[in-house]
Amino acid sequence: MKFLIKTYGCQMNERDSESVAALLLAHGHEAASLETEADVIIVNTCSVRAKAEHKALGKLGLLVAGKREFPGRRVGVMGCMAQRMKEAAFRKVPGLDFAVGTHRLANVPGILERVMKNGGPVLDAGEGEEQWEALAGHVATGSGVSRFVNILFGCSRRCSYCVVPAVRGEEWSRPAAAVMAEVKRLADSGVREITLLGQSVMSYGRAQAVWADGPVSRRGFQEPFARLLEAVNDVEGIRRIRFTSGHPSGCTDELARAMKELPAVCEHLHLPLQSGSDRILGLMRRGYAADDYRRAVERLRAAVPGMAFTTDIIVGFPTETADDFEKTRQLMEEIRFDNAFVFKYSPRPGTPAAEWSDDVPADEKARRNQVLLADLDRRAMVRHQALIGREVEVLVEGTSLRNESRWAGKTRTNMTAVFEPVDGLAPGALVRIRLTRATPQTFYGDIIL
Ligand code: SAH
Ligand code: SF4
Ligand code: F3S
Repeated sequence: MKFLIKTYGCQMNERDSESVAALLLAHGHEAASLETEADVIIVNTCSVRAKAEHKALGKLGLLVAGKREFPGRRVGVMGCMAQRMKEAAFRKVPGLDFAVGTHRLANVPGILERVMKNGGPVLDAGEGEEQWEALAGHVATGSGVSRFVNILFGCSRRCSYCVVPAVRGEEWSRPAAAVMAEVKRLADSGVREITLLGQSVMSYGRAQAVWADGPVSRRGFQEPFARLLEAVNDVEGIRRIRFTSGHPSGCTDELARAMKELPAVCEHLHLPLQSGSDRILGLMRRGYAADDYRRAVERLRAAVPGMAFTTDIIVGFPTETADDFEKTRQLMEEIRFDNAFVFKYSPRPGTPAAEWSDDVPADEKARRNQVLLADLDRRAMVRHQALIGREVEVLVEGTSLRNESRWAGKTRTNMTAVFEPVDGLAPGALVRIRLTRATPQTFYGDIIL
């Protein structure tokens, strides 16, 4: 049977789709590259904003309608939206064959067998009986230079606007031995860059013990997350380490020292700010004030000068005034973010914030969004112009998405760099590039031989 998985949402979803695909391959199924060739199409979904759900529902509707043309085709939904909607998914998408929640992904092969034989609908979206290891153990090996590794599942922070704790469950850290086994396997298959994934990734090992051996690592780290960075750094073949998402409470002196002393750890951190107004941060229940955020950034930049920061911002949170918004704008200017994802607030059913009036009008949310994006572009142009002529290290990923004759890779600060290939160049190589041109999102340059 041929399957195709279409993925929406965050890196957790990308990683889950990889795992489910690996699981299906292990059961003897084949991956299709086109929808028209697939017997089964699964949409992996996100619930974080209403728009993400609308997109997935629209896609599912089209796929189900396509069954007329492709009789025998089965269509399923998995991930966060399946977990949130449960039975309602079948009402929203009549003709849908199956829905599998975030805690049940390891059951996908069995469910597929059932619906191929008997048709749908089949729902599996319960909780408990965690399957993470069964799933994470299935790593597609072989391909790719850069891969995600889950270290922390779920989230227990309960920010007032966020659906993630409801759809992903309580925070749970994977034992370090399991993480390291996966990293070593990936390194042996040629992977050079590892991104450690968790909703609040530096909380790794805070709620449960993850290390079986002594309390201090070789380099004297005590915090479970810093110890993990050290262990991954020491794996032969791993040249770069990233992790996402950060939280200011995790930006400790020990993290700063780990980022400074471990050569594979990149000088970039995705550290969601959400708002620069203390009043809004309080309503969001983020657990920090603007000053705490400032201090976190200062601590890391003191250890690693030139460290790049990227962030997430929500505009138009309930009661956000022009003055609150101005504080966000000013703090973004002060921190000098390298990039930011700016989201318009979207009330999510079941969250505390959804009980409050969504009182910032849609056009004002759109305006605030545009203002921040324009600020970012303007600052990026100035910053990038100053880099023209400089050298940067790039991890080569392969041909550029936009132009097949060019190659692309990432700088240590997570910027995409595009360049002309040279003979013998292979994905996974670390090269030095002299920058000749830059846009806000991309560097262009020449390989230095
Ligand atoms: N765990 C990460 C982010 C997870 S969701 C963190 O908190 O650091 C990714 C981003 O989506 C969040 O950082 C936030 O900016 C945005 N987001 C979450 N819920 C949202 C909502 N209800 N409306 C708009 N944006 C939201
Ligand atoms: Fe959501 Fe907050 Fe957890 Fe991030 S830290 S996933 S925003 S509850
Ligand atoms: Fe990720 Fe969206 Fe789920 S952000 S955790 S796919 S709700």
